[in-house]
Amino acid sequence: MVLVGCASDQHPLYKDASANIESRVEDLISRMTLEEKILQLNQYTLGVNTVENNFGEVVKDIPVEIGSLIYFSDHAEGRNAMQKKAMEESRLGIPILFGHDVIHGYRTTYPIPLALACSWTPELVRRASEVAAQEAYACGVNWTFSPMIDVARDPRWGRVMEGFGEDTYTNAVFCEAVVKGYQGDDMSEKNRIAACLKHYVGYGASEAGRDYVPTEISDQTLWDTYLPPFEAGVKAGAATLMSAFHTISGIPASANHYILTEVLKDKWEHDGFVVSDWGAVEQLVIQGMAENEKEATMLAFNAGVEMDMADKMYQKYLSELLDEGKIDLKQVDEAVRRILRVKFRLGLFENPYVEEKTESEIYLLPQSLEIAEQAAAESMVLLKNEGSLLPLENVGTIAIIGPVANDKAQHLGNWGARARVEDVVGIIQGMNEEFAEKSKILTAPGCDFEGNDKSGFAEAVRIAKASDVVVVCLGHKGSWSGENQSRSTIEIPAIQEELLAAVEATGKPVVVLVTTGRPVELQRIEKKADAILQTWHSGVRAGNAIAGLLSGRYNPSGKLAMTFPYSTGQIPIYYNRRKPARTGDQGIYKDITSEPLYPFAHGLSYSTFEYGKLTLSAKELKENEKIYAEVSVKNTSKLDGFETVHWYVCDPYSHITRPIKELRFFEKKRVKAGETEIFRFEIDPLRDLGFVNRKGDKYLDKGEYRIMVGDQSVSVYVK
Ligand code: BGC
Repeated sequence: MVLVGCASDQHPLYKDASANIESRVEDLISRMTLEEKILQLNQYTLGVNTVENNFGEVVKDIPVEIGSLIYFSDHAEGRNAMQKKAMEESRLGIPILFGHDVIHGYRTTYPIPLALACSWTPELVRRASEVAAQEAYACGVNWTFSPMIDVARDPRWGRVMEGFGEDTYTNAVFCEAVVKGYQGDDMSEKNRIAACLKHYVGYGASEAGRDYVPTEISDQTLWDTYLPPFEAGVKAGAATLMSAFHTISGIPASANHYILTEVLKDKWEHDGFVVSDWGAVEQLVIQGMAENEKEATMLAFNAGVEMDMADKMYQKYLSELLDEGKIDLKQVDEAVRRILRVKFRLGLFENPYVEEKTESEIYLLPQSLEIAEQAAAESMVLLKNEGSLLPLENVGTIAIIGPVANDKAQHLGNWGARARVEDVVGIIQGMNEEFAEKSKILTAPGCDFEGNDKSGFAEAVRIAKASDVVVVCLGHKGSWSGENQSRSTIEIPAIQEELLAAVEATGKPVVVLVTTGRPVELQRIEKKADAILQTWHSGVRAGNAIAGLLSGRYNPSGKLAMTFPYSTGQIPIYYNRRKPARTGDQGIYKDITSEPLYPFAHGLSYSTFEYGKLTLSAKELKENEKIYAEVSVKNTSKLDGFETVHWYVCDPYSHITRPIKELRFFEKKRVKAGETEIFRFEIDPLRDLGFVNRKGDKYLDKGEYRIMVGDQSVSVYVK
C-alpha cells in the first residue's frame, strides 16, 4: 500500500484535509525526528486545576511538541494560547490534545454514574454526556477520561460512584451510551470529544475495597465479568483507553501485554491508543515489577501503553531504551501513529482552536438543566414506602432535618469537573419551591455529618413535633466517595443515626433521604423510617428532583444497579453469584441474614405493576435461530408509571459453572394507569445464552437454559 503520495515541503500531505487520515499520519511520521516522536507519547500536566492559573507562567516550561496536556485553565483563551504555541512554534505544527476529567458533567453537573445506571435509561445518559461534551469542548477540552466501566462489587471502594454498578451488561450498555454521547458518529464535529475507557481492566476487584491494591482475577472472571464492558466500548468506537494502576494476579495492568496488546489490539483490533493512569508507569517500581524507572518504562511501553500520563518516564528513558535495543523504532512509530490518528480523527489539525464564548453561552443552558433534573429524578431509588406515605399530599407542615438538608455542595459528589456550589438547587430550596403553595416548611440541620455534637438535636426534635411529616436528610459528603476514598464500613456515621432515632421518637411519620456515593448499610435506619429515598449525589438539580419525587410530580422509577448489603460484613455481595455446594441452613451467616437488605434491581414506584405469564416463542432452538421471550406488565394503579423489566438468563448445568442468573437485557417503558404493555426480549442464542471461555471466545453449550424475569423462569433447550 502506498500511503505517502504527493508529500512536498511546501504542501505537506499531512496538512491536506482532503487526504485520508492514514496517509496523513504516515506522511507526518516520515517527517518527525525521534525527539518529536517521543514527545508525542507524553502527557504533561499543568498541575493546578484552577481557573486562577497564570497560564503563561505555568506553560512556559512545557515543550510545544508534547502529545497532550491534562488539566488546564477553563478559559478557552488560555488553552488556545497554548495551542497557538504548539501550532506556530513547533517545527511541524502538531496540535496538542487537551484532556480533562469530565466524569458526570462539566459545569452542569449530573448525577454520579452509579446513580445514572439506576435510571436504566441509556438514552438519557447519552444526552447528558452530549451536554458534558458540549460544555467541555467550548472550554477547549478534546478528550475526557471517562467512562469508567469498572464492574464494582465492593461498596467500601470509593470509586464505585464513578462506574455503572455491579453488573457487567449494565456497564457495557451505559458505556456505549456515554461513548456515543461524547464522540457522536464523527469526532471531528464541533462539540465532540474523545472518550477514554477506564480503568483497563479489573480495577473494581480491588481487595477489601482499597484503592491501588492488587487484585486476583482468574482468566474466566476477567472474560466473564471485567472485559465485556471494554469490548462494548471498543466496538462503540471509543478512541482511547486508560491502563489501570493495580496488578492483575501478579501482573500490573499497566505492564500487561496480554490485556493491552493480545486482547485489545490483536483480538479486538482497537486502533486508537492507551494512556497510562497518572504515574502508573513509574509506579511499576513500587509495585515490585521493575527494578528502576527505566525498566518500568520498557515494561509499560512494550506491553502496549502508548502515552505516559504525568510522570515523564517516556520522555526520560525511551531514547536510551532504543539505543540499548530494548524497544524498537517500529514500536515507537506505531505508538505515535495511534496518537496522531486520534488527533486527526478529532479534526485538530484543521480546527486546533476553539471559539471563545462567554460562560452564559456555554454553561447551564435551559435544556442542559432539564436533562439534569430528569436524570436526577430517574436515578433516585425509592427503597421503602410503608403505608404509601409518599407522595406527600395535603401535608400541613413538613420538617426537613439532617446534615444534607441545607448543604448544597454534597449533591455535586466527587469528580466535579467545573462544578460550582452556587449552581446547585439543594433540598430546602427545592422543597420550598415545590411545596410553596401547599405546605409549610420548617428546617434544622440537627447535627453535622460526623462527630459527637448533639447540640442541634433539641431544635430538630422541636420542629419535628411541630410538623406532620419529617424528612430526615442523611448521608455521606461528596468527598467521601471517589478516588482514594475507601471506607472500612459503609455505615452512615452514628451521630446521624442517633439524630434519626431522636426524631423518630416523636412518633411523626418519617421519610429518610439517603444522599451518598455508594450503597450504604441501612439496616437500623430502615427500622426507623416509613419511607426511604436513595438520592445519591445527584448534581445541580438534586433539590428539584427530590422535591418533585416527594410531591408526586415525578413517579419514582429508579432501580438499584448495585446491591445494598444488610451489613458491611456481607461484602462482597452481588446478585450474579455462583451456586454454593450446600443449601438450606448450610453456609449462611449464623449471626445475621445472608440476604442483602435491598437487592440489585430493587426500586419502588407510586404505581403498582402486575407481571403476566412469561412466554417463549419456542421451547427449542438451534444455534442460529432467534426466539422471543415476552411478558406483559399491567399498571394496576391509578397513576401512570415507568417499569424497567430486567431479563436474566442462566445455564443451570455447565462444565464451568455459571452464575445463578445474569442480566442480558433490560427495558424501561411507561405504562399508563390501568393499561398493559408487552415487554419483549429477543434472544440471540450465542449472544445471550452463550458465554466466553478463558480465552475470550464465545461458545454455546447444547442443553437447557433458563430465562428469567422477576420471580418467574422458563426453560429453553438448545439442540
Ligand atoms: C485517576 C484517573 C484519572 C486521572 C487523571 C488518576 O489518579 O485514577 O481516573 O483520570 O487521575 O486525573
